[in-house]
Amino acid sequence: MIAELTRPTPALETRNSKDGAKLLAGKVCLVTGGSRGIGRAIVTALAEAGADVAFTYQNSREQAVNLAETLKAQEDIHCRAYQANVASAEEMQEVVKDVIAEFGPITILVNNAGINRDKSFLKMTKAMWDEVMRVNLDGVFSATQLVVQYMLESGWGRIINISSIVGQTGNYGQTNYAATKGALISFTASLARELARKGVTVNAVAPGFIETDMVSGMPEAALAQVKAMTPVGRLGKPEEVADAVVFLASPRSGYVTGQVLAVNGGMYM
Ligand SMILES: NC(=O)c1ccc[n+]([C@@H]2O[C@H](COP(=O)([O-])OP(=O)(O)OC[C@H]3O[C@@H](n4cnc5c(N)ncnc54)[C@H](OP(=O)(O)O)[C@@H]3O)[C@@H](O)[C@H]2O)c1
Repeated sequence: MIAELTRPTPALETRNSKDGAKLLAGKVCLVTGGSRGIGRAIVTALAEAGADVAFTYQNSREQAVNLAETLKAQEDIHCRAYQANVASAEEMQEVVKDVIAEFGPITILVNNAGINRDKSFLKMTKAMWDEVMRVNLDGVFSATQLVVQYMLESGWGRIINISSIVGQTGNYGQTNYAATKGALISFTASLARELARKGVTVNAVAPGFIETDMVSGMPEAALAQVKAMTPVGRLGKPEEVADAVVFLASPRSGYVTGQVLAVNGGMYM
């Protein structure tokens, strides 16, 4: 027994399985907001893990097309970018229809697209509030409702919602954004309960402060403060969030559901 407990744990491969087959071979993924930042890293990591990856973008056409072309140039990678505003149920319906026609039923969904419109609450306009709700929450509602039936038909599925540390702690000037990211955590837990017996897991990833365009506008002093408050002592990289997503998307996470996986350098624990 003691020998069992002290035996060195074999290294857990996160990308490729032992027999050389890719961890996500044969899986079809849809990632919202894959043109830049964390979404871009998630698209790349899922594709490198063997999945067929469709992703949406809204404005960054050049970056989206470039990502899809770069990945497709690698052997055995199937990837395509689709233009759609995630806040529009109609546009998302078209995308899901096209993805299924090209790749087959989607069984992995990553709800990543998100925006912030920051202001202290007294100065926040209703338009700023509404815009963040439409993208960060309505977008998740539409995408999830559109694909969940295919997961149920397959008897297997993975839904991964990109929340935020701010949804756990709150943040000055982000009442709208924090409200959506907190809501995603309770949405995740509720949907996980509904789908648990049907082979579909639902989890959230809560990144801390990650090096993307979303944080590049923060003042230097604020960034220095973030680093000082982070036990690891630095900002996170998009690839570090993507690795957590690959785990949650994989068959290896079948007993993990309704959870929030924090990728935050220890900033909130
Ligand atoms: N960066 C961080 O520190 C951090 C921390 C915690 C959580 N997060 C969350 O992680 C996710 C990604 O953040 P990020 O930092 O990578 O952001 P980002 O660099 O600003 O990229 C946002 C992505 O979402 C897409 N997008 C935005 N609005 C969209 C819409 N209406 N329809 C479709 N796509 C849309 C953008 O596409 P286009 O460029 O094509 O318009 C882009 O690909 C977000 O949900 C964010 O809240 C980020």
